[in-house]
Amino acid sequence: MIKVVTILGARPQFIKAGSLSREIAKYKEITEVIIHTGQHYDSNMSDIFFEEMQIPKPNYFLGIGGKSHGAMTGQMIEKIEEVVLKEKPDWIVVYGDTNSTLAGAIVASKLHIKLAHIEAGLRSFNMKMPEEVNRILTDRVSDILFCPTDAAIENLKNEGYENLQCKIVKSGDVMQDGAIFYKDLAVKPNFDIKEDYILCTIHRAENTDDETRLKNIFEALNEIAKEKQIILPLHPRTKKIIENLKLNIQNLTIIDPVGYLEMVWLIDNCELVMTDSGGLQKEAYFFSKSCITLRDETEWVELVDIGANVLVGADKGNILKAFKNYSEFSSKYSKVNLYGDGHASKIICEFILKG
Ligand code: UD1
Ligand code: UDP
Repeated sequence: MIKVVTILGARPQFIKAGSLSREIAKYKEITEVIIHTGQHYDSNMSDIFFEEMQIPKPNYFLGIGGKSHGAMTGQMIEKIEEVVLKEKPDWIVVYGDTNSTLAGAIVASKLHIKLAHIEAGLRSFNMKMPEEVNRILTDRVSDILFCPTDAAIENLKNEGYENLQCKIVKSGDVMQDGAIFYKDLAVKPNFDIKEDYILCTIHRAENTDDETRLKNIFEALNEIAKEKQIILPLHPRTKKIIENLKLNIQNLTIIDPVGYLEMVWLIDNCELVMTDSGGLQKEAYFFSKSCITLRDETEWVELVDIGANVLVGADKGNILKAFKNYSEFSSKYSKVNLYGDGHASKIICEFILKG
C-alpha cells in the first residue's frame, strides 16, 4: 500500500485536488491523507469546493491563515512536519505555487520523504512574485516534477534539471481534467446576468498591493462597464484593499467569490475573460474564450503564442485597447491540445504507484 499525504491550502489547490483525489480514490493500492493548512478559510474560499467537488474531508486542518508570508509558511512547516512524522507517508504531493506548497516541500525535503510537485516547471521570470519563489524552491527539492506543458519542460531543461536526481514528466494539466468533468455539472448563478458579459477576477499581489496599478485597472474597468456587464467575483484580499483605498468603482457587478460549479458556468457562458489569475487564464482557453490578462507576464506563454491571451499589464490605455480589439483575436485562435487530453490525474497516479 502506498500512502500519500496531500497538502492543500488555497482555492486553486482545492480545484486541482478535485481531479486528482477523485482519481486516487480509484486505486486500491493508494491511500490519501489530506492536510488542509487553512491558508484560505472563508467557506466560499474553501469548504464549498470540498462539498461541490466531493474532495474527501481533510484528515487534518491546521488553521493557519491570514498571516504574513513568513509567519504563515513557518507555522505550516512546523505543523505539517508533526503530521508527517505521525503518518509516515511514502509520498508528499503538493500543487502549484502557494505558501502551502512551499511549506509542504520543505517538510518533505527535511524528512527525506519523496515529493511530487504538480504544476511543476512554470516560470514567470519575475522573482518579485511570491509564487515564483515558491515554485522554484519547490521544484528544486521535488523527486517527480509533473509538468503541465512543453514550456514547463523546457524551463526545467534550461535550468539544468536533467542533471539532477529527479524525474521530469509531462503529465498534462489536472485543471484540464477538471474542466471536462465539471462542465456538465455547471450551475447558473442566481442574479441578473446579461448575455454578453465579461468575467473578471483580480487578486494578484502585484496588482492589489500597488495602488497605482489597482487604480488604473479599475479606471479601465469602469470605462468598459459602460458598454458591457462586467461580473467580478471579488477575492477577500482585493475587497479589503478596495475598501481601504476607497476606490471609485462604477457599474461593475461585484459579487462574493463563487463555488466552482457556478464559476464553470460563468466561464462557459461569458464573452470574454479579464483576469490576473493563473488558473482562469487556462480555463478561458478550455472553454474556447479569449482572455485579457492584467499582468506583465504569464506562465502560460503558449496561450499568448496562439493568440488566445493578450498581456496588458495594469496600463489603462493598453487595457482599453485590448478590449476594443478583442473581437479580432476573440475565438479566432485554433484550438490545439496544449494541456493534455484530460488524463493528467491518471498519469500522475501511475507514476506515484511505480515510485
Ligand atoms: C494566495 C496565493 C496565490 C493564489 C491565491 C489564490 C500565496 C503567496 N499566494 O493568494 O498564489 O493565486 O491564493 O486565490 O500563497 N483572505 C480572507 N479569507 C480567505 C482567504 C484570504 O479574508 O479565505 C484574505 C485575508 O485578508 C488574507 C488575504 O486574503 O490575509 C490574503 O490571503 P493569502 O492566502 O495570504 O493570499 P492570497 O492573496 O489569497
Ligand atoms: N474560482 C472560483 N470562484 C471564484 C473565483 C475563482 O471557483 O469566485 C476558481 C477559478 O475558476 C480557478 C481557481 O478558482 O479555477 C483558481 O483561481 P485563483 O484565481 O484563486 O488562483 P490562481 O489560479 O491565480 O492561483
